[in-house]
Amino acid sequence: MEMSAEIKKVTDPIYQKISATVPEIEWTTHAPYIYKINKLKKEKNAVILAHNYQTPEIYHGISDFSADSLALAVEAAKTKADIIVMCGVHFMAETAKLMSPNKKVLLPDMRAGCSLSSSITGEDVRNLKKQYPDVPVVSYVNTSADVKAETDVCCTSANAVKIVNSLGVKRVIFLPDDYLAKYVASKTDVEIISWKGTCEVHEKFNDEEINEIRKNNPGIKIIAHPECPPDVIQASDFTGSTSGMIKYVKDKQPKKVMMVTECSMSDNVQIDNPNVEFIRPCNLCPHMKKITLPKILDTLENEKNEVIMDDITIQKARKSVERMTKIGR
Ligand code: 13P
Ligand code: SF4
Repeated sequence: MEMSAEIKKVTDPIYQKISATVPEIEWTTHAPYIYKINKLKKEKNAVILAHNYQTPEIYHGISDFSADSLALAVEAAKTKADIIVMCGVHFMAETAKLMSPNKKVLLPDMRAGCSLSSSITGEDVRNLKKQYPDVPVVSYVNTSADVKAETDVCCTSANAVKIVNSLGVKRVIFLPDDYLAKYVASKTDVEIISWKGTCEVHEKFNDEEINEIRKNNPGIKIIAHPECPPDVIQASDFTGSTSGMIKYVKDKQPKKVMMVTECSMSDNVQIDNPNVEFIRPCNLCPHMKKITLPKILDTLENEKNEVIMDDITIQKARKSVERMTKIGR
């Protein structure tokens, strides 16, 4: 697609905002897509929800609401739009469908998965429940609808400790992130029975690299996602969900920061916090990066890649997500 005078005029304010992060040569490719997607979403009464790990041209260029997975689930339930385009991964689109079953939910690339979500099946949860009868199941929202359907209450990285404590029990089954389970166990007296799932992005970080970065950058603040291994969390100054990390930078305005998480976070947050210097060792999520502007346009134009689930799964899985959103952050 070509850059016209009209496209340049309409998209220039967006480019002014993100020009420090997105090179001009890339922008000339992005701008026509951004122009077309923003026009089309109005015509079709569609809303674009984007996870914080989406690239800057998506996060700042076309998204109506960018957030962590908890806020995306809450927003999906509230929206008045007819179509939800989820710029994120498959479990996020499924969760949006659970919260808004009568809406059309589209995912620009159906192969955008998640190593945590694919680490466990509904059958695995049924087996665990047989092994530990009467122990409630708390599942991370990074799971399939089949797993959520076997779950008592979901959680995200923003509320995992609060959800576990809210149950008022001595033991819970906590699925599927073993590192998040360890993080929760360090913050509660509730006994945690965990699963061997890991995030392929966050498990790659280690405390040696964190300590090295701290040594070379005196005064730096290091903030980590709770999907990181325990040694990384221990070596960090703050742990929180992706939106929790963004809030930390916005409120505290540290001189220098390292976000121990997916790479697009630093790009997106740098744009909104120009006075903060970002030290950027990071890992890419190959699933999040499957979402691109051309795929978003194609999905919206042709209303393809719709998330479809049967009514029974929706009914069962929805309960566990609703219970979580009632408890909140
Ligand atoms: P948040 O809920 O913190 O946004 O995390 C989702 C995720 O997939 C992190 O890897
Ligand atoms: Fe899943 Fe990790 Fe990617 Fe988040 S970053 S979507 S947990 S693989």
